[in-house]
Amino acid sequence: MGGRIGAVISGVRLGGGLDPAVVSAVRAAVLEHKVVFFRDQDHLDEASHEAFGRLLGTPVDHPTVPSADGRYALGIDSDHGGRANQWHTDVTFVPAYPAFSILRAVTVPPYGGNTLWSNTAAAYTGLPAPLRALADSLRAVHSNDYDYAALRPSARPEEFAQHREVFTSTKFRTEHPVVRVHPETGERALLLGSFVQRIEGLTGRDSRVLTELFQSHIERPENTVRRRWRTGDVAIWDNRATQHYGVDDSDDHDRSLRRVTVDGEIPVGTDG
Ligand code: SIN
Repeated sequence: MGGRIGAVISGVRLGGGLDPAVVSAVRAAVLEHKVVFFRDQDHLDEASHEAFGRLLGTPVDHPTVPSADGRYALGIDSDHGGRANQWHTDVTFVPAYPAFSILRAVTVPPYGGNTLWSNTAAAYTGLPAPLRALADSLRAVHSNDYDYAALRPSARPEEFAQHREVFTSTKFRTEHPVVRVHPETGERALLLGSFVQRIEGLTGRDSRVLTELFQSHIERPENTVRRRWRTGDVAIWDNRATQHYGVDDSDDHDRSLRRVTVDGEIPVGTDG
C-alpha cells in the first residue's frame, strides 16, 4: 500500500482452522510489510478471532483492561473511552510486550476513525548515521501512568477519571532499549511511543527533546500507511516494528474494534 509499509491480502478466510502453509505466508507478509489488511472477515467472532490469534502465538490479556466474555479480545469502543489517538506500540509498559496485534472492525463510523501505522524499522534506517549511533546507546522508561487527559481535551472529567482508573488500576514501569533488534528479521527498529516517560540518564527536558526528534522520524508520512475501516476488516501488525494511531475524528459516532494480541519477547538492544 505504502512504499515502506502495508499490504492487502485477499482470498484468505481467517480463523482457527487456517492451513499451516497459509499461516506461514501470512506471518511472513506481516514481517515483511509490518501491517497487512484483510477485507470481508465478517464471519469472525470473539472465539474465532482468538483461535486465529493462537496460530501466531499465545494470546495475552491486556494488563489492566478486562476483556469481554472471558475472551482475550479487547474491546476498543468509542463509547467506553476507547480512543487510541496517540502514536504508540501496544503495551510497551511491560517487559515482554506483545509480538503481534490482530484488530477487527465490528462497528465503523460513517466518516473518519481511520488508523495509521508507521514502520519503525524504516524510521531507524532513515536516521542520519550520528543519530542512529546515539539511538543505539539509549534506553527509555515506559509506563502506563501518563496524562490521559492530554489525549482528549474535550473529555468530561468523569470520563477522564474512569479512563484513567481502568488504564492505570495497576501501574507498570519498565525499561527498554530505544533501538530493538527484531528477534525474527534481525532488523533494528526504534522502540518509543506514547508510553515513554523519559530517557534513562537524561533530564526530563532533554528526554522530551530527544524523544520528539526520534518520534518525528517515525511519524514522517513516508514511513506510514493509513487505512479506512470497513466492517469485517482485519489488520495484523508486527508490534515489534510498528507504531499506530487511531484517528479521533468521528465525533460521537459509534466505532468498535476488537483486538487480540499475542505474546512477545523481552526486547534486545544493539549491544545484545
Ligand atoms: C489500538 O491501539 O490497538 C487501536 C487503534 C485504533 O483504535 O484505531
